[in-house]
Amino acid sequence: MERTLLIIKPDATERNLIGHIVYRLERAGFRVVNMRMEQLTEVRAREFYAVHEGKPFLDSLVSFMVSGPVVPMELERENAISSLRELIGATNPKDAACGTIRQEIARDIEKNSVHASDSPENAKKEIAFFFE
Ligand code: CDP
Ligand code: MG
Repeated sequence: MERTLLIIKPDATERNLIGHIVYRLERAGFRVVNMRMEQLTEVRAREFYAVHEGKPFLDSLVSFMVSGPVVPMELERENAISSLRELIGATNPKDAACGTIRQEIARDIEKNSVHASDSPENAKKEIAFFFE
């Protein structure tokens, strides 16, 4: 069993898609072990995305992430990290495979509805960021 972090982003909470996303995760065999709603501050959003410091999209991404509430959740499953990345699909919904969450509901490359940890180290850090 492995744990990972998913965040429902503001474009999805705004469109009342929390339940739909949780349903898709549970249907794919993920168990929700921790979940809450949070309004991120700019400071916390920048800290979360510190790895993207210097990237041209960072300022816009931070504004988007504080534009409404987010729902971080800790998920458990076998191979949770890689299977969740597969289930959410590519960053740009135009490139996301058929049947992925981003292909289904994301609006564009920025407002792409969900975040998922990309490695065991980042999963550990990101779970601690929201739940410790
Ligand atoms: O979320 P993911 O790991 O798929 O992508 P990332 O490369 O780690 O980028 C983090 C987030 O920044 C993305 O999910 C998008 O919301 C945003 N982004 C963007 O607005 N424009 C880009 N060219 C790349 C990423
Ligand atoms: Mg990433």
